[in-house]
Amino acid sequence: MNEKLILKRKKILESLGGIPEPVIENKEWLYLLEEETRNSILIEGYFLDEEELEQVLAGNKPLSKSQEEAIKYFKTAKFIYGLAYENYKSKEFLFGIPLIRQINKELGFNGKFRKGKIKIAGAKFEPPENYIEDWLKIFIDYVYSINENFFNNLSISHAFFEEIHPFIDGNGRTGRIILNYILISNGYPLVIIKGADRNKQIYYKGLEEIDLQLSKLFTKYKNTLPDKEEVLAKLKEAKSKILKNLILEGLRESLDRLIISKHEEKGEELKPVSKLLQNLGYSPESTRQLIKRGKIIAVKIKNTWYSTENLVRMLLKGRSI
Ligand SMILES: Nc1ncnc2c1ncn2[C@@H]1O[C@H](COP(=O)(O)OP(=O)(O)OP(=O)(O)O)[C@@H](O)[C@H]1O
Ligand SMILES: [Mg+2]
Repeated sequence: MNEKLILKRKKILESLGGIPEPVIENKEWLYLLEEETRNSILIEGYFLDEEELEQVLAGNKPLSKSQEEAIKYFKTAKFIYGLAYENYKSKEFLFGIPLIRQINKELGFNGKFRKGKIKIAGAKFEPPENYIEDWLKIFIDYVYSINENFFNNLSISHAFFEEIHPFIDGNGRTGRIILNYILISNGYPLVIIKGADRNKQIYYKGLEEIDLQLSKLFTKYKNTLPDKEEVLAKLKEAKSKILKNLILEGLRESLDRLIISKHEEKGEELKPVSKLLQNLGYSPESTRQLIKRGKIIAVKIKNTWYSTENLVRMLLKGRSI
């Protein structure tokens, strides 16, 4: 996914009033929050379907561990993204250790920084054994500096947080909520990192790609106070391909949802992209290619891509992306 296509989508969304407030009364946000919840806890192995989630969100008593985890995740994400939205609106960015600990606590963990050796399940990477708070302070400094080369640095920041692995448990979920907190604070919608098998593997590969670039540093400061300048310099050199692409793909989906819903609000009708483009003389194959390359703003509903006449025409007039 091409970064420019994401920036253009963001401009389009801004011309339509920007991201809406992340409240559950907004049906697109509700959908995004629900899907994020289901996917994020699936990475940890908790599965629940849409219906089950809707039932617990409607107030039914959770009947399984998956349902309990889902409700905690959903509530935490919703609240934290509300804060992020206020950052976006006020053009301020509030971020620090208290927020990070609170996310971990709201998710049902103890919010305390760990000490000593820890293993990340399924990973070779060895997180630091000491000075966790010092590592996190470097993480926070880095997050404050990611405006430049935004998507690369955002991806590096997520991997860096996971490599520090500051808590006993819930690091994945805490880190993914932080990732979206940063995105929303910058006027983007949340990104859903998919949790089903193959997708989870890609996510883990994306983290490993960054592990390889930073592991020397973590070995050097495994048990000693990390040198802030040295770590920041290494982070600035780090490159992300896989994770960055995953984030861009995810953002494309979320952005398109929001853009299309704004067009629907204006009274435009959703139609299958294949029909819309066929009327304009495009072959099924070129239609597929255009969708695949992110050249068309569209949402997938039950295996069919939909868009509106106006959005598609924007493309063809060369005015669009
Ligand atoms: N090679 C790796 N390098 C850095 N971080 C990794 C690597 N492999 C996995 N991780 C991160 O570790 C997380 C798991 O850590 P932990 O069990 O503390 O979090 P969790 O929230 O309980 O689990 P999950 O993230 O699976 O829901 C993964 O979600 C992922 O973000
Ligand atoms: Mg865990």
